[in-house]
Amino acid sequence: SSSSAAPEVLLGFTGLAAGRGDSIQVPAGYTATAFVPWGTPLTGSLPPFADNGSNTGIEQEQQVGSHHDGIFFLAMDANVGGNNSEEGLLVMNHEYFDPDVLHANGPSLVNGKRPTDEVHKEVATHGVSVIHIKRTSGEWRVVEGSVFNRRITGATPMEIRGPAMGSAKMATKYSPSGTETRGTLNNCGSGLTPWNTYLAAEENWAGYFVNKDTTRPREHARYGVPSSNGRYSWEHAESGEDVYVRFDASTKGDHAHQDYRNEPNTFGWMVEIDPFRPESKPQKRTSLGRFGHEGVVFAPAVEGEPVVCYSGDDATYEYIYKFVSADNYHAATAGGHLLNHGVLYVARFDETGKGEWLPLDINDSGFVAKAAAAGVTFADQADVLINTRLAADIQGATKMDRPEWGTVHPQTGEVYFTLTNNSGRSTTDAANPRTNNTTGHIIRWREQADHTFEWDIFLLGGDVGTSTGDVTLTEANHFASPDGLWIDPRGVLWIQTDMSGSQQNAGPFGNNQMLAADPVTKEVRRFLIGPMDCEVTGVHTTPDLKTMFVNIQHPGDRSTPGNFTSHWPGGGTSRPRSATVIVTKNDGGIIGT
Ligand code: FEO
Ligand code: CA
Ligand code: CA
Ligand code: CA
Repeated sequence: SSSSAAPEVLLGFTGLAAGRGDSIQVPAGYTATAFVPWGTPLTGSLPPFADNGSNTGIEQEQQVGSHHDGIFFLAMDANVGGNNSEEGLLVMNHEYFDPDVLHANGPSLVNGKRPTDEVHKEVATHGVSVIHIKRTSGEWRVVEGSVFNRRITGATPMEIRGPAMGSAKMATKYSPSGTETRGTLNNCGSGLTPWNTYLAAEENWAGYFVNKDTTRPREHARYGVPSSNGRYSWEHAESGEDVYVRFDASTKGDHAHQDYRNEPNTFGWMVEIDPFRPESKPQKRTSLGRFGHEGVVFAPAVEGEPVVCYSGDDATYEYIYKFVSADNYHAATAGGHLLNHGVLYVARFDETGKGEWLPLDINDSGFVAKAAAAGVTFADQADVLINTRLAADIQGATKMDRPEWGTVHPQTGEVYFTLTNNSGRSTTDAANPRTNNTTGHIIRWREQADHTFEWDIFLLGGDVGTSTGDVTLTEANHFASPDGLWIDPRGVLWIQTDMSGSQQNAGPFGNNQMLAADPVTKEVRRFLIGPMDCEVTGVHTTPDLKTMFVNIQHPGDRSTPGNFTSHWPGGGTSRPRSATVIVTKNDGGIIGT
């Protein structure tokens, strides 16, 4: 059993009843404290957060971004094998923003133009924060002035690496050689590599762009690049600066002369960031494919064997992928270069409880034959990867109910993935067994030889009485729309939910929450409940498992200017702010016990 390595009981806390409310709830004997909310001064001149929404774009670039998501704590001595649990780098994603909360009076569109500083602030609130933190007298604080404190935004220069580097389809006016781009967007989940770097996922990036051409190329159309205007109309920034008009990828039209037709192709990747090297440029790892990356999770690295990681594409009827490096892992020399060469596979879940990994590889004769039979041509492996979804369609992968986070059990190697929901499903298969799947499920598999695996459904989400064979949900643990997922080193499976506002309103699940599960017994208890209209997403701990970091995203996301549906964490009449929550046990013990 997974608990054999640990003498203490796996789940020792008293679970919470579901609830609505505008505060964080944790079990008796635990304390939760908001930390580094959106707008916390981080770099440069440390501009203070203005609760009236008046911070400028330049100020936002020096502050923690909004919509906290995937998060990891890297011990300060991680690179020398240490486990410092008092000081480290907290690295987190900032997925997006609520226009009515970010700006003093909501967003403006004047004569079809966006005020440039509003656009600047919106781009700057995206991306990643690297935050040097230290625990002093029992309290976690930001180490102000640390060289490690860093903001990466939607405009930060980045390198393109792997097979799509230098492809003609990656060439832009900014980088005619197709080797660089600017920014990362809609960073949802994240992953930690075996060499202590951070991978930020680019999820719903397509909507930031526009392509007004009558015929959009497959690498835009298959991903839903809009045809009338970008989600926030950044392409209409009043200044007409290149960094904003690039979001118009049209061949003809206002910005045709800019030639950013390929700009959307430089998004949809996993971005590697080395938090311990603040001067290093982030690198987009194109080997891992281009889709709506929810996150990435690595199997434990084994000396002398390939690196293996998994990533889900969070859209209805999209797929789960696995990357296997061509080169073997050696701790002494491991680095991002291992992610530049290898094979990307996509999962087919068969009715028998078995499944197969299907290669998306132009050197694989079976794949090439299927493409030819489908009348599809790929110029090279870069073209395959830029069109990952199409390649997966051709292989006949299983269309899933929105794959979100994954996690690998540190002892058993079993892989767990959340499938958050798919209310539109009308025909089922064994791996997606419910029509109108409004509550989602968690699937798991065990790798077998010859690129096959054995799988089962770990848990179906749903109301009281929902049964997954050997376990039935109760008032103490019913849940819906599982999203964030992490198995801690003791083997506790932490499950986070992302129910929509209407699903939370309708009940019976209360606010979004985090539950803890025993992967062996399937005992599940509710551990944390978030404030109003938030999502609970991203969880990690210090190496001693005594400080837990949980992200609260978009509290009050149904707010309108001046009418906030949450005032968390500031209380009173304050603006709602995404924030990290630090959870500790009052007796100084291990979280979950
Ligand atoms: Fe950003 Fe799929 O959640
Ligand atoms: Ca998510
Ligand atoms: Ca989600
Ligand atoms: Ca979200």
